[in-house]
Amino acid sequence: MINVRNLIDPTDFSTDEINEILVLAQDMEKDPERYSNLCSGKILAALFYEPSTRTRLSFEAAMLRLGGRIIGFSEPNSTSVSKGESLEDTIKIISCYSDIIAIRHPKEGSAERASLYSDVPVINAGDGANQHPTQTLTDLSTIQNLKGRLSNLTVGLCGDLKFGRTVHSLIKALSRYSNNKIILISPDELKIPDYIKTEVLKNASMEIHEVKSLEEVIDNLDILYMTRIQKERFDSEDEYLRLKDSYILTKEKLRNAKDDMLILHPLPRVNEIHPDVDLDKRATYFKQARYGMYVRMALISKLLGVI
Ligand code: NCD
Repeated sequence: MINVRNLIDPTDFSTDEINEILVLAQDMEKDPERYSNLCSGKILAALFYEPSTRTRLSFEAAMLRLGGRIIGFSEPNSTSVSKGESLEDTIKIISCYSDIIAIRHPKEGSAERASLYSDVPVINAGDGANQHPTQTLTDLSTIQNLKGRLSNLTVGLCGDLKFGRTVHSLIKALSRYSNNKIILISPDELKIPDYIKTEVLKNASMEIHEVKSLEEVIDNLDILYMTRIQKERFDSEDEYLRLKDSYILTKEKLRNAKDDMLILHPLPRVNEIHPDVDLDKRATYFKQARYGMYVRMALISKLLGVI
């Protein structure tokens, strides 16, 4: 078996390696021309078994901007998956055709399973309600670029913390930097799963608080990370309808927030941030999506070993 690096969990890279990726991403943003042929002759397979806009298109744009090419699907029903082919077989085949694979799948653990059957690097582009490490690289890159640090931060994570994989990955990553404080803001029904909390606290002594009210804590935050209520992962439509508008960030609610607080959101947004907030200088979510492309360019280059 060839020894390849994968990114399945945000802690698969050391903090030094993450820092290298963030620095490289910054340079790629500054001087894109210099990197425009770095991956020429290489193929990225983007296998999307679940809906996506940003993640899939930013992976594709990232590879194209590096001079590489793309194969893949975003509609698994048009592939042999609909004939009953197993994930293992699909991956074995696609790893013959490509140099690197990005996979999004509704089942937790599937990216890791895919990596066991692939001869090329596998990137987890979201596995069910579990992890989403490239969104975390995007979030870290945004925070590093705009706050200048990844430590000494009070970060509020608000919304669907139960099913929100971006939150699971982000708190894991933040727990590796010093003196961060996490405030989890959710209704009881959407609290972060115990297994995530245990995993995070296993190796870190990060302060974590759980509250229900955003208004009560907003004045303390350096970062407010809003999330969508993950409709597709609810068993009951009624439960979703009851919880869907648990938090709506408005201009009024921002009155007590710090002047330099960053508002992040992995997007897509539904109701949780009123469009009026987009005009506030603290609204960072559209910029965040842009950082995501550069950080994926840096990640692909590192995993392919071309830099
Ligand atoms: C997130 C995801 O897919 O988990 N989206 C994204 O990748 N930017 C968040 C979400 O769907 O709510």
